[in-house]
Amino acid sequence: MAKVLVINQGLFQELVNFQEVMETVETAFTQFAQSRSVVFPSVRERIEEHNGIYSIKSSYLIEEGAIGLKTGGFWNDNWKKGKTNHQSVMLLLSPETGEPICLLDANSLTAIRTAAAGAVAAKYLALPESRTVSLIGAGIQARAQLEGLLHLFPLEKVTVYSRTQASAARLVEEIRQKGLQAEQAETPREAVDSSDIVVTTTPAFSPVIKTSWLQKGAHLNAMGSDTSGKREVELDRLPDKIVCDLWEQASHLGELQGQLSRDSLFAEIGQITGKELPGRQTPSEITMFDSTGLAIQDLSVAQFVYRKAMEEQRGIYVDL
Ligand SMILES: NC(=O)c1ccc[n+]([C@@H]2O[C@H](COP(=O)([O-])OP(=O)(O)OC[C@H]3O[C@@H](n4cnc5c(N)ncnc54)[C@H](O)[C@@H]3O)[C@@H](O)[C@H]2O)c1
Repeated sequence: MAKVLVINQGLFQELVNFQEVMETVETAFTQFAQSRSVVFPSVRERIEEHNGIYSIKSSYLIEEGAIGLKTGGFWNDNWKKGKTNHQSVMLLLSPETGEPICLLDANSLTAIRTAAAGAVAAKYLALPESRTVSLIGAGIQARAQLEGLLHLFPLEKVTVYSRTQASAARLVEEIRQKGLQAEQAETPREAVDSSDIVVTTTPAFSPVIKTSWLQKGAHLNAMGSDTSGKREVELDRLPDKIVCDLWEQASHLGELQGQLSRDSLFAEIGQITGKELPGRQTPSEITMFDSTGLAIQDLSVAQFVYRKAMEEQRGIYVDL
């Protein structure tokens, strides 16, 4: 009989802090680029009947001795039922025996590991003195991405554009309460063309912004496209450096699908975190990171939290 440690959302949130998650995700990117971990093919399929996207992402971290999967996805109409559109759960298995060892809520995990990926990319690619950010989309990811960037940059002003005025207005109000300047843009162009960092976090299937709107020195984190057919950004002028998390995913699920050949890609992010290739080299270059979300982000953070829970003797064990 397997003993499974269950870590619910409340405990997960108690056990993580952003700095540790960012370091964990950065290490995971580097290890992957150095073939010290394995990402298995992901499943990302539409469930037309329920306006959902079903996903499985799994991987193996060789040195950490961790293996596991995250499943769930994005159900577009959940907000009408008072639930978050993104839903997921994570299962860790023993790499020695294949037995299940830990079940974690992965809604918070997804938000924080994605914020960490955006922050790691911005750390290497954005201007270090970036002060202005625009958020395209005003949901869970927009909030998480902003929290991540606040750990690294002396941000002063945030501009928000979203499809629904009300959701943008709510986010603007929340940001003001943090003591930052915040304003709502009438058009996506107005949000993008004067910001040091632009973050797209929508589930859009047709472009919301164009790269030709980015100002000199800007960095774009394109976080929303993670499924075949999605698109937030029209690459009408190629940024000087285009970076993704994993070409095989970005070219099928990400912003780069159908828009770019492998030759135009500057790097996968782990090549930059592992110092094989440089990040930003000049103040004026325009950079872009396309994130589709890697299984190693989920697994590395889940394993970190699992270890911490065991050390602190937290969580509930269930006999399966
Ligand atoms: N890269 C990754 O690793 C990763 C991780 C998690 C989520 N995602 C993706 O990020 C996206 C957002 O996720 P979320 O959990 O924040 O969703 P959410 O539903 O909480 O928020 C989405 C926001 O985008 C806005 N929006 C929708 N369509 C728009 C459009 N055409 N133009 C402008 N705004 C629009 C909505 O009004 C809402 O404010 C999804 O596509 C999700 O699959 C990616």
